[in-house]
Amino acid sequence: MPKLCVNVDHIATIREARKTFEPDPVSAAMLAELAGADGIVVHLREDRRHIRERDVEILRKVVVGTLNLEMAPTDEMVKFAKNLLPDHVTLVPERREELTTEGGLDVIAGEDYLKTIVSLLKESGIKASIFIDPDVDQVKKAVKCKADMIEVHTGRYAEARTEEGKEVELERIRITVNLGNKLGLIVHAGHGLNYQNVRRVAKIPGITDLNIGHSIISRAVLVGMDEAVRTMLDLINS
Ligand code: PXP
Repeated sequence: MPKLCVNVDHIATIREARKTFEPDPVSAAMLAELAGADGIVVHLREDRRHIRERDVEILRKVVVGTLNLEMAPTDEMVKFAKNLLPDHVTLVPERREELTTEGGLDVIAGEDYLKTIVSLLKESGIKASIFIDPDVDQVKKAVKCKADMIEVHTGRYAEARTEEGKEVELERIRITVNLGNKLGLIVHAGHGLNYQNVRRVAKIPGITDLNIGHSIISRAVLVGMDEAVRTMLDLINS
């Protein structure tokens, strides 16, 4: 069964709506871990629209499971990660005007640059993951960049409206996961996963971690973090 890593960015989104101190994503992460989450994910964006340095620095000290720092592949962020030493970094594309990460990184176009970023991270003992669309050529390039892991973007599956469309996207994900495993990569998956669509992805063999944020935080706002995480864990494990 894949592990569940909870992305707490949107707790910080609520805090930043008022630029105040609450709710604290650190408290949310602690509650998620107490409810059984295996790890915590945060995305420190260039515009600091939700998570801030202070959050990640405290999380590094208190998270018991894995701390996965999502970040853009920039010199500034590499420097930050090398000081912080998260368990792993997930490299994601970032555009200021996007609402959320819109697609995977284009490893084909950015191979040389990403190779350097991955090696700088690994030099400090940080495992490097690259967020990619479900595409076999991207997987092969991630291997060339010497990434330890890939995270397969599940957004197109999550957005598919017809059963046929969902199956097409699931098959792309399965093929990508399978190739990643064959080529020696650890494979994660995430984006757009929710209580309705998670099971079909959780069933795909070879995915070690599911990274889920928006749907868990949305439910937590209404029923509490404990129930939101436990219900998601039940679905993943059932
Ligand atoms: N994985 C990556 C790489 C992401 O950028 C995000 C969004 O921050 C997620 C997973 C989680 O997506 P969602 O919030 O839709 O569950």
